[in-house]
Amino acid sequence: MDGASRRVVDREASIDWFRETRQRTAGMFDLLTEEAYYEQPIPLRHPIVFYEGHIPAFSINSLIKRGLGRDGLDEDLERLFARGIDPEDQDSADTVAIRSWPTRATVRHYADNADRTILDALEHAEIEQDGHPVLHRGQAVFTLIEHEELHQETLAYMWHQLPQTRKRRPAAAHVIADGAVPEPMQIQIPAGRATLGAMLDEIPFGWDNEFPRLQVEVPGFVIDRHNVTNQQYLEFVEAGGYRNPEWWSDTDWAWLTGAGMDHPSFWVRQGSEWFWRGMFDLIRLPMSWPVYVSYAEASAYARWNGRRLPTEAEFHRAAFGTPEGSERAHPWGDAPPDPTRGNFGFQHWEPAPVGSYPAGMSAWGVHDLVGNGWEWTSTVFEGFPGFRPMASYPEYSADFFDGQHYVIKGAAPVTAAGLVRRSLRNWFRPHYPYVYTGFRCVEDGD
Ligand code: AVJ
Ligand code: FE
Repeated sequence: MDGASRRVVDREASIDWFRETRQRTAGMFDLLTEEAYYEQPIPLRHPIVFYEGHIPAFSINSLIKRGLGRDGLDEDLERLFARGIDPEDQDSADTVAIRSWPTRATVRHYADNADRTILDALEHAEIEQDGHPVLHRGQAVFTLIEHEELHQETLAYMWHQLPQTRKRRPAAAHVIADGAVPEPMQIQIPAGRATLGAMLDEIPFGWDNEFPRLQVEVPGFVIDRHNVTNQQYLEFVEAGGYRNPEWWSDTDWAWLTGAGMDHPSFWVRQGSEWFWRGMFDLIRLPMSWPVYVSYAEASAYARWNGRRLPTEAEFHRAAFGTPEGSERAHPWGDAPPDPTRGNFGFQHWEPAPVGSYPAGMSAWGVHDLVGNGWEWTSTVFEGFPGFRPMASYPEYSADFFDGQHYVIKGAAPVTAAGLVRRSLRNWFRPHYPYVYTGFRCVEDGD
């Protein structure tokens, strides 16, 4: 009854979660050589130095300043490191480019101070205050830790683009071998209801775009049991898919030809052989792995195949719906995420063969909906009816309600297990080829 007196944040648990998250980030920076620090592996994003400062500065801005109303640690650094970029093109990236970044020692000194300040607040401050815009249900605590988890994925896909000479291979970087490519199979999903998002008091924390709940009646459709594999996608490439404008929208075709792309950016061609650009190795193209491509490339394949990408509601129906009409928290049921359910939570840097996690199957028998790569939907990212920007980070989603971003669902190998929840939504531009995102196709059914 009395929701106001029920605590959401457990201090001990949040301290552990914060420490583990900081440790994983530190481990990721340790994978790089010093030269990489001021490099910009993705031209449309800031150089690497930005992220080592952005994560702690964001935490101070959200919890210590906006939340607790205290002073920050360094106004200049907190302004410099406040926000990343998602510019339209290289021109706007150059406009916001910052010419001189602080030394690594300065950034690390700031980060150490920030860590001590956050830990002290998690231990002693009033981090959960009923009715406070930023501290209600401990919002700022979740915001700062999940923000870091989201950026661990940014770091991973940036590191992925760096040449091998900039990286140190960790002893435990084990790659799952290629396997048999399963026979393509489609699964019929009957018409029924899908619940997107959640109600505010239903889950401990969600980002603003996850609220409020939206229920959608989804007509019947037919969906691929597995993600489109590298093998299937290779047929499209070899059939001249990247040379035929018929499969591409006008803007996608202009992008493709402008960028001179003739295959997925995770692939490397050497003579007549194909390789996968791995985190630490070039790997002979594993035919059983899901292909990772941009939205434009996924759409072109679907069109060539006479099919289409699923909507966000169809993804939910396939992932969380059941033949009985109930809806589950996860594809496999209501048990919490664990490593047997899918390739997420930093078990691996690379994908696994599709169908490697039968314990993560949905009620309809669809595989890998959570894990082994995000999945493109055809849904343009926007707020659900009743959307309200969150007080701890009002620009988080609203800045991207511009018709230029598409929703991706599920999780990648480097998505933290803490981010695996039904309502989580992620989004990217249709021509952003760096993210660990694949797809599967659907068609109308009955
Ligand atoms: C939600 C993953 C698209 O990486 O740009 C991090 C997350 N926003 N800091 C991004 C985010 C601000 C965001 N995505
Ligand atoms: Fe950020």
